[in-house]
Amino acid sequence: MKRLGWVRGGLCALVAAGAPVEPLMAQDGAQDGAQSGAPTAAQRADALLRHMSLQDQLALVFSRDGGGFGAHAIPRGALGSAAFLLPPAHLGLPALEETDAGLGVGDPRHVRPNGPAVSLPSGLATAGTWDVAMARAGGAMIGAEAWRNGFNVLLAGGADLTRDPRNGRNFEYAGEDPLLTGRIVGQTIAGIQSRHVISTLKHFAMNDLETSRMTLSANIAPAAMRESDLLGFEIAIETGHPGAVMCSYNRVNDLFACENAYLLTKTLKQDWHYPGFVMSDWGADHTTVRAALAGLDQESSGDTIDARPFFGPMLAQAVQAGAVPRARIADMARRVLYAVYDVGLPEHPPVITPIDAAADTAIAEQDEEEGAVLLRNRGILPLRRDAHVLVIGGHADAGVISGGGSAQVVPIGGNAVPADDKALPWPGAPVYFPSAPLRAMQALAGEKLAYDPGTDPARAAQAARQADAVVIFATKWSVESIDSPDLSLSDGQDALIAAVARANPHVVVVLETGNPVLMPWLESVQAVMQAWYPGSGGGQAIARLLYGAAAPSGHLPMTFPRAAAQLPRPDIAGVRANTVFDVQFHTDQEVMYDEGSEVGYRWFDARRRQPLFPFGFGLTYTDFRMGDLTLAASGHDVVARFTVRNVGPRDGVAVPQLYVTLPDGGGRRLAGWQRLTLARGESQQVAVTLEPRVLARFDDAADRWRVPAGRFQVRLATDAADQGTVREIALAGWTMAP
Ligand code: BGC
Repeated sequence: MKRLGWVRGGLCALVAAGAPVEPLMAQDGAQDGAQSGAPTAAQRADALLRHMSLQDQLALVFSRDGGGFGAHAIPRGALGSAAFLLPPAHLGLPALEETDAGLGVGDPRHVRPNGPAVSLPSGLATAGTWDVAMARAGGAMIGAEAWRNGFNVLLAGGADLTRDPRNGRNFEYAGEDPLLTGRIVGQTIAGIQSRHVISTLKHFAMNDLETSRMTLSANIAPAAMRESDLLGFEIAIETGHPGAVMCSYNRVNDLFACENAYLLTKTLKQDWHYPGFVMSDWGADHTTVRAALAGLDQESSGDTIDARPFFGPMLAQAVQAGAVPRARIADMARRVLYAVYDVGLPEHPPVITPIDAAADTAIAEQDEEEGAVLLRNRGILPLRRDAHVLVIGGHADAGVISGGGSAQVVPIGGNAVPADDKALPWPGAPVYFPSAPLRAMQALAGEKLAYDPGTDPARAAQAARQADAVVIFATKWSVESIDSPDLSLSDGQDALIAAVARANPHVVVVLETGNPVLMPWLESVQAVMQAWYPGSGGGQAIARLLYGAAAPSGHLPMTFPRAAAQLPRPDIAGVRANTVFDVQFHTDQEVMYDEGSEVGYRWFDARRRQPLFPFGFGLTYTDFRMGDLTLAASGHDVVARFTVRNVGPRDGVAVPQLYVTLPDGGGRRLAGWQRLTLARGESQQVAVTLEPRVLARFDDAADRWRVPAGRFQVRLATDAADQGTVREIALAGWTMAP
């Protein structure tokens, strides 16, 4: 079984009832028929709703286990996935077939005949591209694979900020900045939905740690939350129009996210005018009335995963007893219908067809190629093709590692480092995609490349003495439900790298990790490439970057700290290595996010701490010069204009970034960027409009965004720690709707 059931016990007493909810008129989304004269999604939803009985409506707010986790039979009509919802036949609506996840289509317990699929690299790699078109293409790829497998709902769109670089799920997310996260995740969602598959946006909100995730309260001032984690979700919604938002396991300021009226009703539905539906994470609903009144619209897999099926007959009884207004049920159903029509599910039913694995892998490969970050290069990269290179470790002869949990995709061709996964409890063993870097490097540089598994540092060092250069692959597995207690590479890999670097001065380290790691050996190696979890085309992408067939262009979406002591919380309370359930459930603890909206690089800047590698950082094989920065304000738009010139020896990609410092100080904030491909010698003029909410503070008392009057510093920089070029602009100040 995937998850254990559990008893809530005394927690319920802590949870105050949410405010009653007025049904909201759905807003017209980007994908409906507003322009064409055809009825809009909202109009179609309203039209059908008029013909629906209460029973019909209730049927839309409760999904069942889809049989995907192997513990329950696959219901008739379901495909073997996370959840399944069969609407009453007379409504003429398609069944909702829901599957994980954000990197590709999952089949965790191998119950589907066509389970294997193509996986994108980790979300951090996609964020590392800073390329919204790439994010969209990746979303369209996994959306098309879902559709071809018969699914019309993808449990994708992970947008929690990476507040802690030890969080086990960071590899599913898009980094520590709300603007980058919102735009990248929003485009991924837009790509998925362009294939007529509803995407979720998850896990709403503040599911920023896995330790005690079922009970933990993430405590943070609401204004700070609006300026950080919630801003990321807000921008993702504006960009991608997800049909569904998944509320998370944790509590936020004491209230469970799935019964938190501030999150679900006030913020999401009222302030952001969100027209889609809120579905619970698997096991995240704990009540009937409280959740319904707070804004939960659909209980997920409610027959098996929650303590009781709260939105089944219990919800009908609550309506009968007058505890939940009928109008609230109609609103829930309308929101589900809205998403179904907005994404075009009835008109574009999935047709089960084989996926185009080669074409899809090429997209995953390009994503990795753009998202891998070159952190250091003392002239050794690109590697010479005539060099005798020794490749060490990381199972680089077999494949590339991936992150575990519900985001796991089953590789086509099987796990390249086979483990008896079925015998192991959730989350199983690490899975390697059979895209071997060694083979791809040999394809570029010839069979002369040798391999050593790196299991014996002395032997690896001995072999390294004979080589012109050494490429060491280091891995660290991250998995849903477990945080890492530290930032170190595991299994003696630091010692291996140090031993090899003593034997050969020409060492390149490739890191396949789900998070930043410490690098005690950094000064003794020549190059470091952060490859994240590289996905189905990862080996090929890494080889092309190492040999210069492609130029690195990724930039960090997360700060790499020098030590855990630099973080707002040097330790994660209650964390333990490699334990799942007791760590998920064992305590009602709280985490105080006293750093507020100063997440990641903002914290490092505000505290004047020097990271190992800053947010935004990334090297390539050429050089750029940026200059001529001017600022102009027109109405509420602040536009930065500047030029970028490729002054180095080859074509390349620049990612100039704009950071603002508000008149009242605080850490600098990313307000815009541009990704530019420039041929050698080419220069380009760029205009970037700064995101106005990044210029603002959230004013809780006035319930508005407030851009303060005063002088703003705007910095054109290569990363969050670069001094770059600074200009100032005086703004008169204004407020904006929440
Ligand atoms: C995860 C979700 C996932 C769901 C269904 C949960 O444990 O938090 O991200 O979509 O399971 O598998």
